[in-house]
Amino acid sequence: MTDSDTAVAVRQSRTVEQMIVGHPTSDGAGVKLTRVLTQNLQRRLDPYLMLDAFGSDNPDDYIAGFPDHPHRGFETITYMIAGRMLHRDSAGHEGLLENGGVQWMTAGRGVIHSEIPQQEDGVMEGFQLWLNLPGKDKMSAPWYRDFGAGDLPKFTTAQGVDVTVIAGESHGVQGAVTREASAPTYLDLHLPAGARFEQALPAAHNAFVYVYRGEARIADTAVPMQRMAILRNEPEADGVVIEAQTETRMLLIAGQPLHEPIAQYGPFVMNTQQEIYQAVNDFRAGRLA
Ligand code: FE2
Repeated sequence: MTDSDTAVAVRQSRTVEQMIVGHPTSDGAGVKLTRVLTQNLQRRLDPYLMLDAFGSDNPDDYIAGFPDHPHRGFETITYMIAGRMLHRDSAGHEGLLENGGVQWMTAGRGVIHSEIPQQEDGVMEGFQLWLNLPGKDKMSAPWYRDFGAGDLPKFTTAQGVDVTVIAGESHGVQGAVTREASAPTYLDLHLPAGARFEQALPAAHNAFVYVYRGEARIADTAVPMQRMAILRNEPEADGVVIEAQTETRMLLIAGQPLHEPIAQYGPFVMNTQQEIYQAVNDFRAGRLA
């Protein structure tokens, strides 16, 4: 599909408030990854709780995967750009996530799942984003869906920017998933050198980008590879204008803040400490999922 410039003209772009370098860490059974959105940014980037980038061509860095572990109170969105990951959960879902595919899982009141790489060599690369649920939905039934690369809405702008609309809306194209309370926008952008891309964003939505190839420029600030840039919430800005210095690939993520208390203990994210004790007790007693 080609967008024939019905395009969103952004009158004033947001600017970059803060640039973040991810922290190298490991999770699951020793999967090496970069935690880009860390716990200290959860209030600033409400409704998002975490963003991990994983990428390695060394199987030792990923092969053990993430064996059975629980979640409650939020959603996990996994986007694979290289490699294959098998998912199994306590609600009986099973799916193989492959190049360019997205797995959207709503943990709701509880899911126990495993995420295990299905390859013994080659590159494994992708992202996992955690999206909070409003309090009223934290104990809802779990939900799960796999989208193959071909199932995700995509379009190309007149400037040759390839856009995958994982969530929300871009240039009139509806994303694969919509959510009322958090109104997430999740775009993967592939920009040729010199291209420009505009995305309308409500001023109240919290927004950030993560550049994983090349280098972007946003309102005169260069955003290099492997950096997250938090976009300032400026009342007069109606969106963001991105320019690619070189061939660039990046995620653009935004959402409506929930403005609720956030209580997190590992894989449980609730509103209160009491609800966290309940989650831990439910898990230990085998009542979580
Ligand atoms: Fe998980």
